[in-house]
Amino acid sequence: MSDIRLGVDIGGTGIKGAPVDVTRGQLTAERARIDTPSMSTPDNVLDIVKRIVSRHEWHGPVGVTFPGVVLHGVVQTAANMDKEWQGFDADAFFTDALGMSVTVMNDADAAGVAEMRYGAGVGHRGVVVMVTLGTGIGSALFMDGVLVPNTEFGHMEVNGKDAERQASGRAREREKLSWREYSKRIEEYLRRLDALLWPELIIVGGGVSKESAKWLGYLKVRAPIAIAVHQNLAGIIGAAALAGTTR
Ligand code: BGC
Repeated sequence: MSDIRLGVDIGGTGIKGAPVDVTRGQLTAERARIDTPSMSTPDNVLDIVKRIVSRHEWHGPVGVTFPGVVLHGVVQTAANMDKEWQGFDADAFFTDALGMSVTVMNDADAAGVAEMRYGAGVGHRGVVVMVTLGTGIGSALFMDGVLVPNTEFGHMEVNGKDAERQASGRAREREKLSWREYSKRIEEYLRRLDALLWPELIIVGGGVSKESAKWLGYLKVRAPIAIAVHQNLAGIIGAAALAGTTR
């Protein structure tokens, strides 16, 4: 029997959503994508989430990711979103506004759960870390498949600077780095992460993972590196997988 839930992935540049069969980790309809409004306030984001819900004619449990720390449904940080989100009870807000059960979680945690359950992390025990390289850098840490939520390894300091400022996909675009130059940034970041966590596996996801052929070959890192199987659908799949859970 299939169990279908809606996953919505709120990102710094786009808001995406689709129904997902969480027994198999697969989308059951094409995803809808709408640009994140430049004023990314809760009300403006809600309008878009509503459009995605109605495009899919959805009534049922919804999982929503947010690009910041989310403790028990309350947003704590919002590096790439409107500051109005800080301290905002996103879980209660979406649940009331949509009239459905909504679970809000960190975006990289959701992507990591998708990869551990249905992707590159399947069968991997011990310490596994997933990083998402996109507008920001997100992270998800697992021990024997169990998530340690809200790690923020994207804001680790590398050479005294925020890693996200140097190694995110946005940093590559902002500084117009060649893929060779950018691969050095990724390598430096992953080596630092490796030296602190000594993981069995590092999974790389996010928008940059779609272009892994342009940078992966250059990297020299001790831990094995796997590219996310679900790439930028991982957030939607993980959000659906965690919909209806208490966080
Ligand atoms: C946020 C993380 C988020 C990541 C990816 C970072 O700026 O602090 O919570 O997971 O961006 O969106």
